[in-house]
Amino acid sequence: MPPRREIKDYIRTIVDFPHEGIMFRDVTTLFVDPRGFRMAIDQLLLPYAGVRFDKVVGLEARGFILGGAVAHQLSAGFVPVRKKGKLPGAVISEEYQLEYGEAVVEVHDDAIEAGEKILLVDDLLATGGTAEAGIKLVERLGGEIIGCAFIVDLPDLGGRKRLEALGMDVHTLVEYGGL
Ligand code: PRP
Ligand code: MG
Repeated sequence: MPPRREIKDYIRTIVDFPHEGIMFRDVTTLFVDPRGFRMAIDQLLLPYAGVRFDKVVGLEARGFILGGAVAHQLSAGFVPVRKKGKLPGAVISEEYQLEYGEAVVEVHDDAIEAGEKILLVDDLLATGGTAEAGIKLVERLGGEIIGCAFIVDLPDLGGRKRLEALGMDVHTLVEYGGL
């Protein structure tokens, strides 16, 4: 029998993408593999066995791929948090910092009702800026975030600590040192 492949074995690293000095953790090689993708969804859900969620919030773009599968598994609804200008209905917005400049994410203002229990999902946690913006959007609508789940954690960039300082319960599957 070949050795059992773990999540990290499926993630490809691309050197110097999108620019020099960055080791890009490419999860498409995890998603493309039938066993890898199922393993990722199963492991994202592990800490929440027996917990009831109303909705899963996925962060554009790779958080949509995971969030849809996770929501289906939980029999929960799915809510997209999108980059500015993509959602057709009335939205609320949050600004966050990128390496250079700012970005804005939005959610439909009727997508979450006060008191609903939410699981926030994305592929990767770096500085935590994107996730924090998503958290703020959910909380402004009165949602209660039970957990934040990611495949990849880059702990040197401080995202986990940042979200934990906001009182979040953070679940990640694999870690990489450096950027
Ligand atoms: C990447 C990644 C996370 C975010 C993490 O998305 O998919 O969403 O960055 O970074 P942070 O913790 O420092 O905020 P990106 O903004 O590249 O967009 P994409 O998912 O639409 O490709
Ligand atoms: Mg992203």
